[in-house]
Amino acid sequence: GVSAPHVFVIMGASGDLAKKKIYPAIWWLFRDKLLPENTSIVGYARSKLEVSDIREKCDKFMKVRSEDRERYEQFWSVNQYVSGTYDDPAAFDALSEAISALETEATGNRLFYLALPPSVFGDVTCGIARHCMTTNPGWSRIIVEKPFGRDAASSAQLSAHLSSLFTESQIYRIDHYLGKEMVQNLMTLRFGNVLFEPTWNRNHLACVTITFKEPFGTKGRGGYFDQFGIIRDVMQNHLLQILCLVAMEKPCSTAASDIRDEKVKVLKCTRQLGLEDVVLGQYVGDPHGDGDARQGYLDDPTVPKDSVTPTFAAAVLRIDNERWEGVPFILRCGKALNERKAEVRLQYRDVAGDIFRGQPHRNELVIRLQPGEAVYVKMMTKRPGMTFDMEETELDLTYSARYKDLKLPDAYERLLLDVFCGAQMHFVRSDELEHAWRIFTPLLHVIDEQKPKPVPYRYGSRGPAEADELSRGLGFRYTGSYSWKGDDAH
Ligand code: BG6
Repeated sequence: GVSAPHVFVIMGASGDLAKKKIYPAIWWLFRDKLLPENTSIVGYARSKLEVSDIREKCDKFMKVRSEDRERYEQFWSVNQYVSGTYDDPAAFDALSEAISALETEATGNRLFYLALPPSVFGDVTCGIARHCMTTNPGWSRIIVEKPFGRDAASSAQLSAHLSSLFTESQIYRIDHYLGKEMVQNLMTLRFGNVLFEPTWNRNHLACVTITFKEPFGTKGRGGYFDQFGIIRDVMQNHLLQILCLVAMEKPCSTAASDIRDEKVKVLKCTRQLGLEDVVLGQYVGDPHGDGDARQGYLDDPTVPKDSVTPTFAAAVLRIDNERWEGVPFILRCGKALNERKAEVRLQYRDVAGDIFRGQPHRNELVIRLQPGEAVYVKMMTKRPGMTFDMEETELDLTYSARYKDLKLPDAYERLLLDVFCGAQMHFVRSDELEHAWRIFTPLLHVIDEQKPKPVPYRYGSRGPAEADELSRGLGFRYTGSYSWKGDDAH
């Protein structure tokens, strides 16, 4: 029933992800009374800690407003902490007993969030599967997060391991970009309007660009980042998921299985990448910058001095199907760039049979993910007044203007609530993951083996000029004549 006890278990409760993302998200859900009534939270990690220690670590990430004080105390009063190793069966039995003690009925529903490094992932999943699963009619669900391996083979191994312990319906693979407002809006924009979909194809579009930019470097996390690089960190997961939602065919329904089937189909039509399809970059310090900006990637003491790991990548993906043949999908992502921005940009073809002597600039439909959620269409209009000239303008749905005082939930907040509800629509199925790796593995292996030298780019710049040339060469037209006014707001 609705009041069945739920226990949310955070494995790796003393770590970075737990304190920065998971405890805050579960607290906001609790604060807003979105969780089932009888929900408790159990933190688990190796360190011998108390709930008060966890609370102290989390405090500054929880955004507690003065009116939430009492609720915040309530939140910590439904928390427990259990310490134990990650490979000892007795420790998992103890965890299971602690959970049982919170279940006021004979059984309950259990959620396990694995905020853990890959090194202990195997042991912990075995421990949970063998010692901590609930009994019927309760359910158990496992929430996991990248890295899902390093390439096709290691990811397949991990998937096989998980599927030997759990059913696919018990596994929730997080890609937190799927929890973002504008990513979730892609299906609504496409399939809830008549306006866009008829032009959403090779007949009308010149190219599609999906961009992720961050204005900061590795911030001392370089040692971790260096094992992965920007392609594994952002492109193969976040940007590829966005590509799926932009490029897939209309699913039969909004059921998770129908949506995920369509995502897999479009991935199956996507060509594998090679070195010739990418531009790789690595940032260097800006001698004129301040603070962090002076530090290049190789100046991070946790990064090997001779590292060739890319911190920037631009890649062209080709989807060989009837809708997209000939339309390049350009994925661009990088750290230490000039701004924070994530967007999808569909550039239309030139007007056919132009009667305006080349004046019209191309239409673009832009979906701005962050910051400042917006959808706008770049278009031509007659310059107002006593003239027949034209100029560029926009149809603009900027959320901050259209929805006053809007507070959007954090991506993790939405996704965790989905797990409670058993909604898998915004999670990655194992076959999606398999195909995501199929596309990127040949490229990643070439990079790992040949160690091509990435193009240096200055901290705070737009990234390597070669990436702009790649876009230009693929038919993307940039005139520089237009700047969206929404950009001034940030
Ligand atoms: C993570 C990457 O998955 O996404 C980070 O590991 C990156 O390197 C982050 O900074 C970006 O997420 P967001 O939500 O801040 O855009």
